[in-house]
Amino acid sequence: MKADLIVGIQWGDEGKGKIVDRLAQEYDMVCRSQGGHNAGHTIWVDGVKFALHLIPSGVLNPHAINVVGNGVVLCPEAIIKEMVQFENLEGRLFISDKAHLNLPYHALIDQAKERLKGEKAIGTTGKGIGPAYADKINRTGFRAGELLNPTKLCAAIIEYFKQNRDIFDIYEIDTPSEAELLSQLEEYEAKLAPFITDTTQMVWNALDADKRILLEGAQGTMLDIDHGTYPYVTSSATVSAGACTGLGINPKDIGKVTGIVKAYCTRVGNGPFPTEDFGEDGARLGKQGHEFGTTTGRARRCGWFDAIATRYASRLNGCDELALMKLDVLDGFDEVKVCVAYEVDGKEIDYLPSNLEDVTPIYKTFKGWDNSVGARRFEDLPLAAQEYVKVIEEISKTKVGIISTSPERDDTIIL
Ligand code: GDP
Ligand code: IMO
Ligand code: MG
Repeated sequence: MKADLIVGIQWGDEGKGKIVDRLAQEYDMVCRSQGGHNAGHTIWVDGVKFALHLIPSGVLNPHAINVVGNGVVLCPEAIIKEMVQFENLEGRLFISDKAHLNLPYHALIDQAKERLKGEKAIGTTGKGIGPAYADKINRTGFRAGELLNPTKLCAAIIEYFKQNRDIFDIYEIDTPSEAELLSQLEEYEAKLAPFITDTTQMVWNALDADKRILLEGAQGTMLDIDHGTYPYVTSSATVSAGACTGLGINPKDIGKVTGIVKAYCTRVGNGPFPTEDFGEDGARLGKQGHEFGTTTGRARRCGWFDAIATRYASRLNGCDELALMKLDVLDGFDEVKVCVAYEVDGKEIDYLPSNLEDVTPIYKTFKGWDNSVGARRFEDLPLAAQEYVKVIEEISKTKVGIISTSPERDDTIIL
């Protein structure tokens, strides 16, 4: 059986965690394939909140196996901290031995680089994601499998510190002593060794045995290293293609692709965001949508739905359908706007240019509605909200298959 895929369509935080958790109840395996603990996926079940960063959002289904694939950058401290909230993870959580380690010095380099960039800072999460992926590409990284031999890994990292001394000095970063590092690595090994394995083989076996597999994307298409708003992006392939390299599966292994979009747009960090609203509407979206980052607590920038960016992302990812999230957040607006084209140099275009710095959105305005919160059937949505869904389908050229009307697992319309 093919694996189904969930991918973020905007700038992350679309509500992937909620949908993966909701769907995971029917899957045998949930896999992460890229990103790291920059991700913050929120799940609410019966009024209890869970915030996941590295553990896949299938963890609340006691029967699902959760895989952290080779394409993820793994911060041992972060995953150990996250694991504490769950019991009996052994046998339900597996970490690829090929996943690259995101170690404390990566976060320090990330933060130092951002400080030096000043006004041009990317606004990263400061979690070391870029430097950890840079080491992987430079072939100077270390992998989760190496944690199984802490003494050998410690010697290799000390050698890395020596070779990169000048860089650490420029960034004014203190590196740990050999004894401190060894004790840290031994602790990681003690806590993580039972979970580290060859997950490639494991995923293949599950595919061959016709198990139901759900692939959970992190971040969103507009943050993709190639196709996003470079350089204001993250350092991994966030598009559906990234799931192949990040897990060791091939394109033919992927079945249904569901793109997750909010009914409006948000972005956290710097970089272009054409439909950002700097006025009352943006502030109101932020307030009604509780738009504060799950990982860093930063206020998210807010604006209207961008149908042009959605169409672009849907094509890039091969979306079979969209899950339209947070429709309830638009409740109470007299009018809602959708970006249906851009203006660039006085000309109207209906596609996403490579550089989004100088585009001006062209909007169409639609009638608002009052009360969609908690709706569980399409017929229960106010008529204007039903119309809004149809407009999004039409301009994005992708059908809407799921609508979400509150953070709770069951406040979801499956069409
Ligand atoms: P992710 O990174 O894509 O998993 O999304 P986040 O968890 O970072 O952000 C989405 C936020 O919206 C979380 O606080 C969710 O609990 C919340 N959320 C998800 N779906 C809905 C919805 O349909 N309505 C409302 N009001 N909140 C939602
Ligand atoms: P989830 O999975 C929203 C953003 C950061 C910054 C840029 C680069 O919860 O949707 P990084 O630390 O990755 O080098 O930062 O990417 N960013 C996210 N924004 N949701 C996320 O993840 C994000 N992960 C990274 O704010 O702009
Ligand atoms: Mg998030």
